[in-house]
Amino acid sequence: MPRSEPAPLVIAVDGPAAAGKGTLARRLAAHYGLRHLDTGALYRATALRLLRANGDPAHEAAAEAAARNVTAADLDDPALREEEVGQAASVVATHGAVRVALLDYQRTFAAEPPGAVLDGRDIGTVVCPEAQVKFYLEATAEVRAERRLCELRSRGVESIESSVLEEIIARDVRDSRRSAAPLKPAADASRIDTTALGPDEVFEQAVATVDSRLSST
Ligand code: DC
Repeated sequence: MPRSEPAPLVIAVDGPAAAGKGTLARRLAAHYGLRHLDTGALYRATALRLLRANGDPAHEAAAEAAARNVTAADLDDPALREEEVGQAASVVATHGAVRVALLDYQRTFAAEPPGAVLDGRDIGTVVCPEAQVKFYLEATAEVRAERRLCELRSRGVESIESSVLEEIIARDVRDSRRSAAPLKPAADASRIDTTALGPDEVFEQAVATVDSRLSST
């Protein structure tokens, strides 16, 4: 009898901005030999396409058209990391039609062997509800603003701490109150509060969780 291929391993990492999702997802992907998808980049690429065409992120049909044109090459554009693009991404992400337009890309990516780590806001709840392991990272808004500030400074962008905090809070409100796939932990997600943890501690906790989940299946 032909041996069936093992199902791709999918790990979902969700949480608010600057909770440490990207760092953890990249490290888990390297550790388990999986591919990594930063799904926020899809929303940022949608927003960037719109902004460059002088479009309005609040306009659903225009945002949906931009989402349908996003390509893998768009995801490497350094302009995606700009704060203005992040804010516009959180507006385009409120549109149901944009979320549907980006679903296929994410699910196809996850389904390819040997599997993938996807980080975002709705991976465990909507994009990959069947993921074998799900994490939900959280941290206080103040600590997340400090991390974002350090990241901006390391890229040579000078910012004011209070305005970074305001932007983080505005994004939290928009991401968690929207009706389409709002940011919330999946019922079966392992929650990690990263407020007082360094990246190594978060990684070690997560690996222990993945290993125990894999050994019990
Ligand atoms: O993680 P990030 O800052 O790159 O995400 C940018 C915006 O994209 C975020 O404010 C909300 C949205 N987003 C989303 O709605 N769903 C995802 N899976 C990922 C990001």
